[in-house]
Amino acid sequence: MVTKELIRQALQPIIDPEYKASVVDLNFVKDVVIKENRISLTCVLTSSDEAYKASLQSQIQDALASVGADQIHIRFREITDYEKNQLAELGNAPGNGESEGSDAAQSQHAAAPLLDPQSPVQFIAIASGKGGVGKSTVTANLAVALARLGKKVGIMDADIYGFSIPDMMGIEEQPQLIDNRIHPVVKFGVKVISMGFFVEDNSPVIWRGPMLGKMLHNFFHEVDWGELDYLLLDLPPGTGDIALDLHQLLPQSKEILVTTPHATAAFVAARAGAMAVQTQHDIIGVVENMAYYECSKCGEKDYVFGRGGGAMLAEQLHTKLLAQIPLGAPVNHVSEADFSPSVYKADSKSGGIYLELAANVIEELQKN
Ligand SMILES: Nc1ncnc2c1ncn2[C@@H]1O[C@H](COP(=O)(O)OP(=O)(O)OP(=O)(O)O)[C@@H](O)[C@H]1O
Ligand SMILES: [Mg+2]
Repeated sequence: MVTKELIRQALQPIIDPEYKASVVDLNFVKDVVIKENRISLTCVLTSSDEAYKASLQSQIQDALASVGADQIHIRFREITDYEKNQLAELGNAPGNGESEGSDAAQSQHAAAPLLDPQSPVQFIAIASGKGGVGKSTVTANLAVALARLGKKVGIMDADIYGFSIPDMMGIEEQPQLIDNRIHPVVKFGVKVISMGFFVEDNSPVIWRGPMLGKMLHNFFHEVDWGELDYLLLDLPPGTGDIALDLHQLLPQSKEILVTTPHATAAFVAARAGAMAVQTQHDIIGVVENMAYYECSKCGEKDYVFGRGGGAMLAEQLHTKLLAQIPLGAPVNHVSEADFSPSVYKADSKSGGIYLELAANVIEELQKN
């Protein structure tokens, strides 16, 4: 039977050309998943040279075939500044002696306790298979509910293109720059950082890959989060690059999946669940949003978007259905000091359901 130890041994002789050390010792082989004789893994690249990538691919394939794997799936991704920084801290430098210039120096300067494996902060990523199911609404309200229960909470709006948290929470202020560190905006007791704070006039974000990566990097390294119990990450919909980057950046993150009750939505959400499983994120559970409409006069529940999607998804992912949240916008008035378009009041029906959800989440996280 193929084991992780066998895989380590087989890949040990493969040398990274930049660091001149084993890819195993450099911890470049990640997310190893073994299913019978099928192996999938991620390999970190230090060079964008296609010939190097092809050679690495064939070396890994040969090595894994020699231990009996018959289906091999290798994902490649470039080394992040954080990983370079970590390697530098461990005394590893690229073997060719060339300095990485200001980039490496900068990231070294910005060593982030937040991402330290010893960091006490619990990361909770809120994911879904498709857009518009209520991830951002759930993120905002779960964060506020956790804060209402006395926890120290932050939200990182990691939906760089489709940021929506500041508007949903009715945030008008901007983060402050103090001693060259960005201080999140605090609303309803929750610290918030979003791309929305750094874009003028709601103009669309048209950056591509590397800039996006930098932005997320900045959110982790340049923001002074202070003390936190939980950092909630509002992910972009689906299983695209940012979601994958974040999964890899935060191997310790837990995950909540949001779906609507419709079977198709749950089916698509299962893909996001599969990604969590592949990258070894623990799934805390499923939240079914827009679960039903409750008549305010007679209290009768109308299952407008179908029924059972949340339970079905939870069963499929061997996890729990943590909450079913009804349809309905918060009762809120623009003139109120704590106006927000999407945050439910603590004493409203949905507000109460979110408090129960928060208590469930705290309990689930204490278990492991
Ligand atoms: N339980 C609910 N009842 C009524 N409206 C809701 C509910 N949940 C979310 N909405 C509304 O549905 C829309 C989509 O929700 P939201 O933006 O939270 O979803 P999302 O999954 O984050 O979307 P995207 O994929 O675009 O980021 C918003 O207009 C939101 O106000
Ligand atoms: Mg959203």
